[in-house]
Amino acid sequence: MKIRLDKYLADMGVGTRTEVRKMIAKGQVRVNGTTALKAEQKVDIKSDEVSVNGLLVGYEEFEYYMLNKPAGIISASEDKREKTVVDLIESRRRKDLFPVGRLDRDTEGLLLITNDGALSHRLLSPKKHVDKVYFARVQGVVTTDDVRRFEEGVDIGDEKRTLPAKLVIRSVDESEKRSEILLTIREGRFHQVKRMFQAVGKEVVYLKRLQMGNLVLDPSLKPGEYKKLDRKELEE
Ligand code: URA
Repeated sequence: MKIRLDKYLADMGVGTRTEVRKMIAKGQVRVNGTTALKAEQKVDIKSDEVSVNGLLVGYEEFEYYMLNKPAGIISASEDKREKTVVDLIESRRRKDLFPVGRLDRDTEGLLLITNDGALSHRLLSPKKHVDKVYFARVQGVVTTDDVRRFEEGVDIGDEKRTLPAKLVIRSVDESEKRSEILLTIREGRFHQVKRMFQAVGKEVVYLKRLQMGNLVLDPSLKPGEYKKLDRKELEE
């Protein structure tokens, strides 16, 4: 694929479109060893070698990061007042990154950050029913009756009940009235996990996403940490 030289450099975070045009005009940019003087010059993102002040700048069409989202950060690309999940990706190069779906501010765990719109669509499309697995601490004693109700789909006040969800009780502390569970849902409705527990008279006090489709949160990532994924890892 061929794109304009100024777009190539701006996409890779070398500077704004205006800044990179100035660099080109000053003769700081070379393409295949030859000084490039035109911002409109087309370069092949795969085969051409672009350098700025002697440093090679490779092109990445898509970037993918697995983030362990910490609590307290919003799932947005940018915000005037607050730090976002994209701001946490310090090694990012592209400016067009966004989170694939949203986790609530107080939810932790797996979030994919990318600029690949097609992949995002595949993971989020309601028709695709991609499984999402959550770990939660719940105030209240979760029972096998709740397991059955989740299996049947729960009325959470929307037009339709939720799709069947798989609830696994990991532990119950009868004296503290606290439970730890794993829940697999196939939709992504607003506050879905919290609302499902509300519907059975319980409250989620801690929520963490562990898995989305085949993508599993790397357990070595602490909240706020991330790792870069390549396309191959994702396709697997
Ligand atoms: N369900 C919720 O209630 N919150 C989230 O952040 C994700 C799923």
